[in-house]
Amino acid sequence: MTLFTPTQRSLRLQSSPLRELLKYCERPGMLSMAGGLPAPESFPVQALRAAADRVLRDTPTAALQYGPSEGLAGLRDWVANHLRGAGMTVSADQVLITSGSQQGLDLVGKVLAEEGAPLAVEAPTYLGALQAFSPYGPRFAEIACDADGPLPGDVADLAQRAPGCRLAYLLPNFQNPTGRLIAEARRDQIVAAAARIGLPIVEDNPYGELWYDAPPPAPLAARWPEGCVYLGSFSKVLAPGLRLGYVVAPPELHTRLLYARQAADLHSSSLAQHIVLALLQQGMLGTQLDALRARYRISRDAMQAALLRELPPGCTWQAPQGGMFFWLTLPVGLDARALLAPALRAGFAFVPGAEFFVGAAQAVSPDECSGSTKPSTTDPTVGSDGQGRLGIDPARTVRLSFVTLAPAQIDDAVHRLGQLLCQRLADAGGTSSTLLPMAEPQFEPSNERSIEQPRSQVVETTAEVITQPLSATALAA
Ligand SMILES: Cc1ncc(COP(=O)(O)O)c(C=O)c1O
Repeated sequence: MTLFTPTQRSLRLQSSPLRELLKYCERPGMLSMAGGLPAPESFPVQALRAAADRVLRDTPTAALQYGPSEGLAGLRDWVANHLRGAGMTVSADQVLITSGSQQGLDLVGKVLAEEGAPLAVEAPTYLGALQAFSPYGPRFAEIACDADGPLPGDVADLAQRAPGCRLAYLLPNFQNPTGRLIAEARRDQIVAAAARIGLPIVEDNPYGELWYDAPPPAPLAARWPEGCVYLGSFSKVLAPGLRLGYVVAPPELHTRLLYARQAADLHSSSLAQHIVLALLQQGMLGTQLDALRARYRISRDAMQAALLRELPPGCTWQAPQGGMFFWLTLPVGLDARALLAPALRAGFAFVPGAEFFVGAAQAVSPDECSGSTKPSTTDPTVGSDGQGRLGIDPARTVRLSFVTLAPAQIDDAVHRLGQLLCQRLADAGGTSSTLLPMAEPQFEPSNERSIEQPRSQVVETTAEVITQPLSATALAA
């Protein structure tokens, strides 16, 4: 018997990262397409070292002293100016520097999520956001999406099927996990639908600068400043170890987020903020982005070519125009979770896509929706219009990161994936429509999960057992 009684809130926290999966990924020779870890060679080490030297030489006291909870004034100015360049109307007063945008998501959850009240999320969505919001006890309403993003009609319909919905969490640029980009016209329609029903938007944009074909359209927050909270990050463009991101919010909400952040960690690292500001002021971000885009474009194209070459018929995907991820759908009968253990044995790793969908225990149930005119369904995660996940079977989805491996390694990893899929299809009798015997131990189906339980259960690998859930950190998030 313990003296300590954890709160219900703490029991809703998901268990920590699937460290075992990362452990496998770190093994020598393991070809990991699992984590969205920036290419280590892309870190601006020399520039950071020089900036750190300058900061410690010229302003050591300010860099090592406690600082303002809002963040360093110069850095807030830089962020506001940068976002104005992307079409947003924003003043430095609205910018809160955070310890990564993950902290921004936690603060948003703390301030805006309410026990039992719905939050709307894309299907699928960023697992780290589900983890950040879950402790505050919301129910999740999935928004049906197609290849161009959330369906505006389904957003409008939230007023009926998720009454009291407190916000819609959306990732317009190269979404994690699907890589999807919301096109210009769709952005306008989504914002119009949300404004019509008075539904605030939380726009998360860590990948917007990583475009390989053309820059993305202006943010949702540029179209509806008073209705949007906007999150950005330096993790993907400089280095995640700096732990610096930012939240831009309308003034009253900014104050509440600021108080929540004071309680959490007082402020982000003064030293990191000074170093990053020194880098930004010397204008090195442009050079860094050019290099990142050139590198990741080659990797994206290498993965696209390898997938076309190696995967058996029945697999589908769309090449992303930016970001870090491909999102595959496997042939009918294959289950991505059941393929993870043999994949690890074959020396490569991916993330089963089912991890990025809301579990039934956390979803808004149709029974809760008073006044809904929509057909009732036994699957509480099914969206409006009877469309639900628009035919997506989460078990058949896979997220592949293309940014960590070199092109030759991508070729090798995708070759092994293709071999595994071909072999599984052959075992099943050579047709992709036969339900395969599940020879490998598998993850629990995601819609069976309880939020008090680990998200993923047991996957046997050679000798060890993975018992931890997939998490934001493991999925890099
Ligand atoms: C969609 C999304 N939001 C937020 C984060 C958190 O990023 P960070 O806290 O490193 O800024 C990530 C990390 O990968 C992400 O993919």
